[in-house]
Amino acid sequence: MFVACMTMIKEGTIIAVDGHSSTGKSTFAKLIASRYGLIYVDTGALYRGVALFASENSIIDCENRIDEQALNRALKVLKLLFRPTGPGGASELYLGDRNIEREIRTLEVSSKVSFIASLPIVRSFVDNILSNYGKSGGVIMDGRDIGTVVFPNADIKIFMTASAEVRAMRRFREMEAKGERPDYDKVLANVRERDYLDENREAAPLRRASDAILLDNSNMSIEDQLQWFEELIAKS
Ligand code: DC
Repeated sequence: MFVACMTMIKEGTIIAVDGHSSTGKSTFAKLIASRYGLIYVDTGALYRGVALFASENSIIDCENRIDEQALNRALKVLKLLFRPTGPGGASELYLGDRNIEREIRTLEVSSKVSFIASLPIVRSFVDNILSNYGKSGGVIMDGRDIGTVVFPNADIKIFMTASAEVRAMRRFREMEAKGERPDYDKVLANVRERDYLDENREAAPLRRASDAILLDNSNMSIEDQLQWFEELIAKS
């Protein structure tokens, strides 16, 4: 009988997965985590956690104006941590004892998070949490600046992208599946706007690290991407 061999990943490995929004980074990273026994860290969730807290405590208003002094005070006491939800490396985000995994995905938080994530004090708050998760390795993190700023010495760096049209169509279908009636042109405009904000902010803008391997999944299924990763590991 033929048994496919999976190449092992060496202990303590850090894998950085960066890239544009709606490229399926988290689906890809979660799958790799469960397959190779790594811890998955959704770094965008931490920015979303800060945005939720700021929004609930009137630190950011409806026009995305931020009270930086109040934010500075809040970051000194804010406790964000991932708690495992079971085997396979999956986890959910907690604010103290409160599970905020759902609330950080609302439209309200999504509309504020890019502004929050552009602030250097927020970035150093999140980087500090991430460096603790990276201490013992065995992790895969997805985000925008993991391979460039947070772990420039990561063992494997992947930069994920797909055409804006393909990403907009994926989001459009996700929204339709939730019972919404999205307008494709608006979804596409939003994808382009997020790319612009991520790539043009001053603090840790989205960039492909010079040693990151490009994964353009415009025409790839998740199975194709897993196979691509397995071939990459087997070659390295
Ligand atoms: O991946 P996401 O959509 O959950 O990310 C939420 C926001 O956080 C988005 O505006 C990009 C930003 N982000 C970042 O600036 N750096 C990271 N490492 C991860 C996310």
